[in-house]
Amino acid sequence: MSRVLVTGGAGFLGSHLCERLLRDGHDVLCVDNFFTGSKRNVAQLLNHPYFELMRHDVTFPLYVEVDRIYNLACPASPVHYQHDPVQTTKTSVHGAINMLGLAKRVKARILQASTSEVYGDPEIHPQTEGYWGKVNPIGIRSCYDEGKRCAETLFFDYHRQHRLDIKVVRIFNTYGPHMHPNDGRVVSNFIVQALRGEDITLYGDGSQTRSFCYVDDLIEAMVRMMDTDATLTGPVNIGNPREFTIRELAEKVIALVGGRSRLIYQPLPADDPRQRQPDISLARERLGWEPKIGLDDGLQRTIAYFRQLLEA
Ligand SMILES: NC(=O)c1ccc[n+]([C@@H]2O[C@H](COP(=O)([O-])OP(=O)(O)OC[C@H]3O[C@@H](n4cnc5c(N)ncnc54)[C@H](O)[C@@H]3O)[C@@H](O)[C@H]2O)c1
Repeated sequence: MSRVLVTGGAGFLGSHLCERLLRDGHDVLCVDNFFTGSKRNVAQLLNHPYFELMRHDVTFPLYVEVDRIYNLACPASPVHYQHDPVQTTKTSVHGAINMLGLAKRVKARILQASTSEVYGDPEIHPQTEGYWGKVNPIGIRSCYDEGKRCAETLFFDYHRQHRLDIKVVRIFNTYGPHMHPNDGRVVSNFIVQALRGEDITLYGDGSQTRSFCYVDDLIEAMVRMMDTDATLTGPVNIGNPREFTIRELAEKVIALVGGRSRLIYQPLPADDPRQRQPDISLARERLGWEPKIGLDDGLQRTIAYFRQLLEA
């Protein structure tokens, strides 16, 4: 049994990760400031004898004894990370410094939840880990993109300078139960609009493409990455390479939810990438992993979650 710290553990991905780690027999410390996460996401874990929930902001130092750290703390959706952009950069950068400092002190292995946003509006397609990205350093998304890029830099400098045992994964669009219903992310947005019988808002003409990974697949990859030998630092892309246009996604959601929602179109926000698709060759080769859950199956599970949430 390892003592595992999950920062951002009450968020969408973090809550699934905590649940999985408990199932695997670990002792889990979940740290969160509840900015976008909620106690509801981990309510079912509170009575578990090896689960502990701590309210803490990772921009401040943390002194705990753990063997492994998954660093997920950071708002992930544009509406949330643009709400207080200075705090977003602080969370990525100061948060990384504090968690790396902790890992160094207690000699823990540490994994960073990085993002496909480090590729910005990519010029190559699909994106491989060797691509350096095309990121606007002064735009409205920069607090997130550049914050995450700087966090990666810190991880690799701690690795080179202090021989810290690091792992970096670059996560592509992921969806599933426990997503925030009002976070403006495309899957949750469409599902909530369809369940409320409202029209579905598409930005641009809906021809921009995205790939969507179901949360269980993603968590499997993160856990596998954490368990690899110390020579694999990453970065490793994880996500589902199957591409859909945003319009296809909207049509699928309407078909699965039923109802009479129509598609309405709004202007594209600034710096919105046109295309995003992971090359997961490295994850296939080094983690023996690839996503298994198809979009229809994943959407059905997510719709069931939101249906229950909205009824409650
Ligand atoms: N879901 C995705 O598609 C996706 C894609 C790429 C990267 N990621 C990364 O994965 C991680 C988790 O994302 P998510 O989708 O679960 O988002 P989320 O917003 O649901 O989770 C983030 C969690 O971090 C917490 N948090 C934020 N600032 C904090 C701070 N200063 N101190 C402590 N806790 C703080 C929030 O309250 C929340 O519980 C993030 O780092 C995100 O950048 C997610």
